[in-house]
Amino acid sequence: MNAREKDFPASAGGGPGGAADAGERNLAPGTISPHAQPASDAPATGSSRFHESARAQVAGRAAYIDDLPELKGTLHAAPILSPVAHGRLRGIDAQSALALPGVRGVVLAGDIPGDPVLATFVHDEPIFARDTVQHAGQVIGLVVADSAMQARRAARLVRADIEALPAVLDVRTAHAAQSYVLPPVTVRRGEPEQALADSKHRLEGRLEVGGQEHFYLEGQIAYAIPREQGQWHIHSSTQHPGEVQHWVAHALGLENNAVTVECRRMGGGFGGKETQAGHMAVWAALAARKLGRPVKLRMDRDDDFMVTGKRHPFAYDWQVGFDDTGRITALKLTMLANCGFSADLSGPVADRAIFHSDNAYFLSDVEIASFRCKTNTQSHTAFRGFGGPQGVIAIEAILGDVARHLGMDPLAVRMRNLYGIEERHTTHYQMRVEDNILEPLISRLAQTSRYGERRAHIARWNAANPVIKRGIAITPVKFGISFTATFFNQAGALVHVFTDGSVQLNHGGTEMGQGLHTKIMQIVADELGVPFERVRITATETGKVPNASATAASSGTDLNGRAAQFAARNIRDNLAAFVSGLDGCGAGAVRFRGGQVMSPTATRSFDEVVKLAYANRIQLWSDGFYRTPKIHYDKVTLTGRPFYYFSYGAACSEVAIDTLTGETRVLAVDILHDVGTSINPAIDIGQIEGGFVQGMGWLTCEQLVWNDQGVLATHAPSTYKIPATGDVPAHLKVDLWPERNPEDNVGGSKAVGEPPFMLATSVWEAIREAIASAAGPEQASRLVAPATPENVLRALGGG
Ligand code: MTE
Ligand code: HPA
Ligand code: MOS
Repeated sequence: MNAREKDFPASAGGGPGGAADAGERNLAPGTISPHAQPASDAPATGSSRFHESARAQVAGRAAYIDDLPELKGTLHAAPILSPVAHGRLRGIDAQSALALPGVRGVVLAGDIPGDPVLATFVHDEPIFARDTVQHAGQVIGLVVADSAMQARRAARLVRADIEALPAVLDVRTAHAAQSYVLPPVTVRRGEPEQALADSKHRLEGRLEVGGQEHFYLEGQIAYAIPREQGQWHIHSSTQHPGEVQHWVAHALGLENNAVTVECRRMGGGFGGKETQAGHMAVWAALAARKLGRPVKLRMDRDDDFMVTGKRHPFAYDWQVGFDDTGRITALKLTMLANCGFSADLSGPVADRAIFHSDNAYFLSDVEIASFRCKTNTQSHTAFRGFGGPQGVIAIEAILGDVARHLGMDPLAVRMRNLYGIEERHTTHYQMRVEDNILEPLISRLAQTSRYGERRAHIARWNAANPVIKRGIAITPVKFGISFTATFFNQAGALVHVFTDGSVQLNHGGTEMGQGLHTKIMQIVADELGVPFERVRITATETGKVPNASATAASSGTDLNGRAAQFAARNIRDNLAAFVSGLDGCGAGAVRFRGGQVMSPTATRSFDEVVKLAYANRIQLWSDGFYRTPKIHYDKVTLTGRPFYYFSYGAACSEVAIDTLTGETRVLAVDILHDVGTSINPAIDIGQIEGGFVQGMGWLTCEQLVWNDQGVLATHAPSTYKIPATGDVPAHLKVDLWPERNPEDNVGGSKAVGEPPFMLATSVWEAIREAIASAAGPEQASRLVAPATPENVLRALGGG
């Protein structure tokens, strides 16, 4: 038992499995420990292969953009930031900056040869602030110098002459003033007003949920290199090279074919590099064009906080009707999304919040109104879950309040409202939930985590202990997989087999640490029947696979994995046809496995077949293309089938709170999560653990504070706290649901990147349970997110 467990032993001694399994990583039955690598002739998929870059990363030999050798003459840029949240920009004085040693120039809106507005979908965001500034930290221009430090120092000396204007700093003020970046959207089913009036019980409430800084370890960076005859090569730490290409070309006034964007890997993206990596690339390219030199722009961490958008903070107002059994009979929910100063991805983020405000529950008579509020803050953007977490927390908070109001076990209330019970299968956006495993999954977790027993034990503990209170909660997740913008659900890949039989793979997805490249290498190895070690991946590049979607919406493997599988299959078909000609058999009788090619009459090595095929002029490389079937929906009413399938999971979290200080600690977490047939269990479990802990951070310790002038006060690790290793619960057990994806998806797998994030709602609900036991249900419902010590004390009534 370690020190943390000694301080706060989880109920019934050392957590559900006892102290012995604290921190143990449970792999799916029949899988191999992540430490023992499988034999090279075993199938590559289904085993816990190391991440393709793990060794290089640990040894410091995996290159990020700032590690690349710099071309001769490379200059460095730093941003000039607006010091005020809203104002008229009357002039810029850069004299003292330009006088500093090493400074080569200043780049402003007037230096943009193409469109001065970024090529975003909504087209509402100037590349550099022009007549007005719209948030503190908005980029007005760049200083370019011989070194990054010289550029940063000089940027601070640039004086912007700004006449301050009134700023809208919070979401409720924005809503009252009808300040929106996009029009409101309402989704409605049944007669919620009538149903509310007819309900046996009614409750109403409001809730505030904070944003979240992405805190990728590698900050935003781009390196723009002018090439001959008006061509450009951009290294960008981006989840969406194709969009960076488009934005850079648009700003430079060029066609897309003049710009190539490359990304070997990111040091984390988490949604923060889905669109907003594009800004760095555009800025670096504009500086490079003006100065005629390669330019690198690596954001200082504080600047990164000040400039880039975060998870959307949300505010909610709700009214719920329910019966004696805790079943919801009516719901009216208003969601206010704080979008910041421009639209960015706020439309689809707020849509996904609507699509997930049912989470796992059937809502018969419901109205959800979503407002996309414009404030004078950073433009908030994609962040793991993409609005899903903001939808899920609302309904989970409401169900928790309903249960505590009725004096029922919240798990019983949740079970009572699940999809699937009594033929309740269709979502409020008219999609039938066909692959529902919620009831068996949650029941199994309740059993293995010994939820009931521990809940009783906690009640006894709380009765006996006046200061430290505990709480336990199970919350599920049902997360829709597909980009809600249907056209994004397409992907391409390129597979080369060289004459020595080695395989080179490229696809449109990007690697941000999630293991996408490793999984796709596994898929391609199995399709060609070669050992995993024969496959190498190359950097994502717009010149290899064009028009690729962002690596986002958790769909990287689903989309690119299938495209790569199809590319490899084309090559295998070519080889099979060739062998069938040699051996006089049908092509279908030729098998590829373990580096061997077997026909009914002969077995040859893959390398030998490749050599022979090359000599006979057989094509040894191919592209592959995939688009997700079955999906469609109406963008105006948000009805249809936006998702190919759902990923499911549930978590049981136990917490302790100190009612004198408001401090909280997560003691034990048990997760049962559905990844279908896992392509790589170690990577999937890593995603589940990482997603959960990141969600825990959002709901407990990570708090963004803007001061009354709209300046972000928490802009460095000194004031913004992400979970540390010491915050990871001593008992964190992850089990995988054993069934394959019933939809036809690559290898029978399911997407895993985002869904586990929302399992952390169980931590927040467990904290509310602990508050309720200390101060009653009304106090619990006052807790906002994040549950910082201050906010816990406020809910308890002490602050
Ligand atoms: N895991 C790591 N290590 N780093 C990341 O930046 N991003 C998450 C998730 N897991 C992220 C991560 C987000 S927001 C998404 S959408 C998915 O990975 C994207 O990758 P995938 O589609 O290949 O799962
Ligand atoms: N998820 C993530 N990113 C996106 C989406 C989505 O649904 N739509 C557009 N970008
Ligand atoms: Mo993830 S928020 O879809 O990049």
